Parts: sequence; structure tokens; C-alpha cells
Amino acid sequence: MTQYKLLVKSARQLVQVTDSGDRVLYGKHMQNVAVIDGRNGQGLSLVVNSDGLIADFGEDDVIKAKYADATFDRTIDATDKCVIPGFVDAHTHPVWAGDRVHEFAMKLAGASYMDVHKAGGGIHFTVEHTRAANEEALYDLFKHRLEAMIRCGTTLVECKSGYGLDVDTEVKMLTVIERGKQEVNIDISSTYCGAHAVPKNKSPDEAAKDVLEVQIPRIMELMAAGTLHVDNIDVFCENGVFDVTQSRDILMAGKRAGLAINFHGDELHPMHSAEMGAEIGALAISHLEEVSEEGIAAMSKARTVAVVLPTTAYILRLKPPPVRRMIEAGVPVALGSDFNPNAYCMSMPLVMHLACVTLRMSMPEVLVAATLNAAAALGKADTHGSIEKGKVANLLVLDAPR
Ligand code: NIG
Ligand code: FE
Repeated sequence: MTQYKLLVKSARQLVQVTDSGDRVLYGKHMQNVAVIDGRNGQGLSLVVNSDGLIADFGEDDVIKAKYADATFDRTIDATDKCVIPGFVDAHTHPVWAGDRVHEFAMKLAGASYMDVHKAGGGIHFTVEHTRAANEEALYDLFKHRLEAMIRCGTTLVECKSGYGLDVDTEVKMLTVIERGKQEVNIDISSTYCGAHAVPKNKSPDEAAKDVLEVQIPRIMELMAAGTLHVDNIDVFCENGVFDVTQSRDILMAGKRAGLAINFHGDELHPMHSAEMGAEIGALAISHLEEVSEEGIAAMSKARTVAVVLPTTAYILRLKPPPVRRMIEAGVPVALGSDFNPNAYCMSMPLVMHLACVTLRMSMPEVLVAATLNAAAALGKADTHGSIEKGKVANLLVLDAPR
């Protein structure tokens, strides 16, 4: 008798997202969400094996007959409910101390993101508080945030460092993320973002040198020792932060060290970050409010995933990124919450809603962007982001028929 972990039975609908092994969807394919509907009053069942992978699914009767001899650790009755893949949040900054509510007041009074940043607030404010916090306190804050994300349906999340800007604090943040990977019931892709801002006592060149010569080598040592498992490298490529040349150098050093390139580009100014990212084989670029037509074409050719962040454009009242142009041009689009002290949102359903209303994406497109394409932005679409046999059974059972 085979023991299985879970049986979900009698669902009205199973939303696979894709049923053909696609690792990313772009262009008009983002409209075609693969759905199985229960027919003639038959519900649908799904079986999860002891490794937590999707073993099988189909009509209730078929699965019942096929697994007549099996036992299940748990059974979920999904009568009149709909099963979809867990949400993937492709961009967050969840490890920090010190809130910035006072800055929201400044922004409402007319200050821009960069006004606040240049006045020593913004990322600098968070860096001060994050440096001062001990690892335990940071972990408690982080864990609490991850649990809130889980309640909103997120099952795989990208988590960045980047409020240290010195080697010890960056390592402290990555260690906190590593502990979350072990202890919290959510899948995590971790990102080293030591070049998130230029620390107050350094020039951009000095900061880039510290990242290249001190921070990356130390992180590589910890990875080689098995203490850290970092997946991606990120920089904030922006006027007044790291320019395109500095960003490229840092991203390439990360790539040589085995990290996937996944960075902030073309957010506040047209920097031609997209062109640079496509050229160096970036897996994903986030923001892109100011992406150029050439950048869109380059990303389409390289199939670099555009991670769009509607909460940020909303709270900062930025011009929204040209998502319709990107989809038309064949750029795969993914979604992230950008959870951070400036854009305080842990809810992918809200992000998806904003993407429909402010970015003019359709509902099928946002579902793809918040599942399969977000997994693709993290290099995890072979295991996450759709309901297909052999994939990780990260599932949401929605109290809704479709
Ligand atoms: O993605 N743009 C740079 N980084 C973050 C903001 C981080 C912060 O303000 O603390 C972002 O919006
Ligand atoms: Fe960000």
C-alpha cells in the first residue's frame, strides 16, 4: 500500500496555468491559462506524493479507482472550490528594522522618492536601523512578514538583502534569509543586493569597489562553506545610485560567482538598464517604468523576464511601466510586491488587482505573471508556478468555484 501526503478531492476547477511544460509564457500565450473544469457534476482530484510533489490529478472517479489501495496523510474536500498554483512573489525586501511612516507623510506633502533619499532618509534610514538590530530581532520581524505573505497565498518568495551596505550587515541579512529557508513553511529564493544604495561615507566608485573586492568574495566563501545558499545578485541601477557601468561590473562579478542576474533598472530615469541587462544575460529586471523601446526589444530577444511592481508605481505616483508594449513585444512579464518600508504590501492578490487596474493587464495575464512567470524570474519554473505532474505541490484552494 502506498502512502501519499495529500488528496484534494471534488474540486470544481483545477487551474494549471500551463499544461505543456512551458517554463515561461509571453505575448498572447499569457492569455491562455490552462484550466480543467469538472464535467457532468464530476469533481476533480489531485494527489501529492510523500516528497510534496504533484503525483497525479484528474476526475474524482478516475483518481479514486487508480488510488483505491493508497492511503493519504490528509484529505481536503474542495467541493465547489477551485485549486490554483500558489502565488510567487518575484521581488521583496523583507529583512529590515525601523519603519518609515514619517516619510509617507513627507511624500504626501510633495517630496519625491529621491528627495527623501538624498536627504539621508529612505534606504539610508533603514540601513541605520538594520545595522543596529541584532540577528534575532531581524529574524523575528522577517518571520512575521513571511507568515503574513503565506496568509495572502504566497508560497515562493524572492528575498533581498541590501539594507546593510557593509559586509557584516549584508551577511547578517543573508543569514536571516537562510534561517527563514530552513524554518518557515515557504519557499525562498535569496538575493544579495549589497549595491542597493551608496553608503553615506563612500562615493559610488568606492561602494562598487567594496562590493566587488570585499562583499562578494566573503559571500562566496560562506557559500563554499555551505553556510549560505544565495541564488541571485541585484543592484539598484539608477541616477545617483549605481550607473550602468558600475552595475554591469557588479552583476558580472555575481554571475561569475554563479548567481543569477536579477536587478532594479530603469525605475526613475531612463538608464538603458534593460539593454545592459539583456546583453549580460539577466534572468530578470525589475521596475522598468522608464524602459526604452530598444530596451524592450533587447529583453524580448533575450527573453529576460520583466518583473513589474505596481505597488511602487502607485505609492510613488510614478508613470506605470509600459506593460502592454512589453507583452506585445514578447517580453515575459512577472509580478512582485516589492514589499519594503516604502511600498508596504505583502499581498499578491492586491498586487494582481493593481496590475489589472493600473497596468491594464487582463486577469489571465496577471495569474500567469504571479505564478509561472514569477517562478521563471527566479529560475524556478521547472519546479514551481503551475499545476503539472512532478512539480512542487504549492497549491491554493480558493473558496470560489472558478
Ligand atoms: O524596489 N528601488 C530601490 N529599492 C526598493 C526601495 C527600497 C526602499 O525604499 O527601502 C524598490 O522600490
Ligand atoms: Fe525593490
